[in-house]
Amino acid sequence: MGVPPRMHYMHCHNMHRHNMHRHNMYYHTVARTDLAALRPQWNSEMSESAPIQHPNKLTSGDFTEADEPLRLFAAWLADATRSEPADPTAMTLATVDSDGLPNARMVLLKGFDEQGFVFYTNLDSQKGRELDATPKGALVFHWKSLSRQVRLRGPLERIEDQEADAYFVTRPRLAQIGAWASKQSAPLESRLAFEKAVAFYMAKFAVGPIPRPANWSGYRLMPLIIEFWQDRPYRLHDRIEFRRGGGGEPWSKTRLYP
Ligand SMILES: Cc1cc2nc3c(=O)[nH]c(=O)nc-3n(C[C@H](O)[C@H](O)[C@H](O)COP(=O)(O)O)c2cc1C
Repeated sequence: MGVPPRMHYMHCHNMHRHNMHRHNMYYHTVARTDLAALRPQWNSEMSESAPIQHPNKLTSGDFTEADEPLRLFAAWLADATRSEPADPTAMTLATVDSDGLPNARMVLLKGFDEQGFVFYTNLDSQKGRELDATPKGALVFHWKSLSRQVRLRGPLERIEDQEADAYFVTRPRLAQIGAWASKQSAPLESRLAFEKAVAFYMAKFAVGPIPRPANWSGYRLMPLIIEFWQDRPYRLHDRIEFRRGGGGEPWSKTRLYP
C-alpha cells in the first residue's frame, strides 16, 4: 500500500529544482503531483483496473432496499464500530456563519433516534454562536474502512438541561474539568494560561461531583434528509436518499445517480 517513498521523494526533488524561484507554485505543483501519484495506487486496488471484488461481505448486501433510514444507519454504525480503527462516531458538522459562509468541523455523535442526532459542545464556541443565529446544519460520516458515507441535513435545537446533565456525569473527571476550563474557540494567549485554568478548576472542584457548566450542552440535528452512499467498483456507487417533511412524518426514498 502507498507510494514507494523514494519515487515520491525524487519527484518532489525535481519539482523543487525547477520551481525554486516560484515558491508558491512549488507548493501547488507538489500538492497536485502527490495526489496524482497516489491515484494509480488506490485505483488499481479499489476500482478501475482490478477485477471486481467486494472488499468485504458488508458491501454485498443490497442496502438500497431499506425502507427506513434509522435502522440502516444503526446497522452501518455497528459495522463501522467493528471496522474503524478509531472514532467510528466522528462526524463532520457543517454550519453557516452570519455572512452565509459555511464552516465545518468534527464532532462526536453521542446518541441518535427518530428525533435526531446529538453531539455535545460549548454553547459559546464558534459553532454554538453560528447555530444560535442559524439553527440549521449538516452532518457527514465517512467510514473509510467500509467505503461508506452518510449525509444528514436538517434543523438543530439545543437539548434539554436534564439530558445534558445525564450525559455530563458519565464523562471522565478531567473532561468535566476541561469543559469548565476551555473557553472554546476564544483566543488563548498560551498553553500555560489554559493549564492554569485547568489547575484552578481542579482545586475548585477538588471534592464531590462536578456540576455541568451552564455553557456546555448538546445540540440535536433533526434530519429531514439522510443519504447513504456506498462505494462500488468502477465508480458505479450506490446512493439512496430519504426525505421527510418534518419529525414524525413518513420517509420517502429516492435512488440517486452517483
Ligand atoms: C475526531 C474529533 C472529534 C471531536 N469531537 C468534538 C465534540 O464532540 N465536541 C466539540 O465541541 N468539539 C469536538 N472536536 C473539536 C472540534 O472539531 C472543533 O475544533 C471545536 O469544537 C471548535 O469548533 P468551533 O470553533 O467551530 O466551535 C472534535 C475534533 C475531532 C478531530
